[in-house]
Amino acid sequence: MKSYKMFLRGVAKNLSAISFRCITTDARAKDWPRKIFSGVQPTGALHIGNYLGAVKRWVDLQNAGEDVTYCIVDLHSITLPQDPEVLRHNSLQMTATLLACGIDPARSTLFLQSAVAHHAELSWILGCMTTMARLTHLPQYKEKSAKLKEIPLGLYIYPVLQAADIMLYKATHVPVGEDQVQHLQMAQSLARAFNNRFGTTFPFCNAIISDDASSRLKSLRDPTKKMSKSDPDSKACVMLTDTPEAILEKIKKCVTDFTSEVTYQPEARPGVANLITIHSLVSDKTPQQICEEAKGLSTGQYKLQVADALIAHLNPIRDNIRRYLADTEYLSSVIEEGSDKARTVAERTIAEVKEKVGMDAFSSARTQGLRRKQNIE
Ligand code: TRP
Repeated sequence: MKSYKMFLRGVAKNLSAISFRCITTDARAKDWPRKIFSGVQPTGALHIGNYLGAVKRWVDLQNAGEDVTYCIVDLHSITLPQDPEVLRHNSLQMTATLLACGIDPARSTLFLQSAVAHHAELSWILGCMTTMARLTHLPQYKEKSAKLKEIPLGLYIYPVLQAADIMLYKATHVPVGEDQVQHLQMAQSLARAFNNRFGTTFPFCNAIISDDASSRLKSLRDPTKKMSKSDPDSKACVMLTDTPEAILEKIKKCVTDFTSEVTYQPEARPGVANLITIHSLVSDKTPQQICEEAKGLSTGQYKLQVADALIAHLNPIRDNIRRYLADTEYLSSVIEEGSDKARTVAERTIAEVKEKVGMDAFSSARTQGLRRKQNIE
């Protein structure tokens, strides 16, 4: 009995030594396997700006043979009130859209965030390592909360959940838009803080920022504004689900300028440059090639060419979205399998995290180890 008490005292001493020791390690020094992770909110139908600026890149990374994990972040989407029926529909629609755009479940892990409970679990642990001051200063939070009378706590801790998403899969590279840079920095500093305190556990996650023209498609009605789904003018953006007639109509009505020639001058002629960018992305031609080929055409005539190319590119995507949406059983099986794959990885990370944080006192391996130490076996 006496020796057991002494043993416990020894454990307590060791524990306090551990919890105050600062383990400084450089997560970059370790060779982490290259792993890509990204997330998208289930917002329903996507416009070509979302597709060309984000989803197409996800597909390209997958096709380049990278290790890719893509997550439909429904936990993030309830940070602002959501109708359950709409959320359900949007989750199906986003899955159908990603598949139609070329995400292949055999080569990508595609899953639903809420189906892997460890996201919320790690988010709590990381939340305990985050300060309110840090979260208050994030621009996206400031912008969204400014419009609200009552601010949901979830909106505030949104970036912590995002860090948990990335860290659960030990992602090394995260393709995101420019508006997510601060959130990525938050994930980087949380990984560093965790490593410093508990020993190297997480890699440094690098943002892959898309900051070329494709990630900044402009409104078709006002080329000084970004293309946005929430634009009150429905002709401002082309949706992936638009019919060929609707696409033609929107491109014809696209605001350009009073010069008739087709030239690529993003600063001086943003409207025409935007059309050339769209054309270039769906045809794999450079803007220079396009201008060369469009010599002698008026912008009005050129618009018809852009519409043709866009319609041809989007036709199979639109048909596939419809086809997948009609087969919800298939969509469910894709998400179920993807979520199982993701869960296997997440489980491993959360076990490691709990062990490091000291939540493993009663896990069988540890209890066996303790018993052995006490010679009571
Ligand atoms: N916040 C991201 C967005 O709005 C979505 C997201 C959630 C995400 N978790 C992520 C992106 C993890 C990259 C990695 O676009």
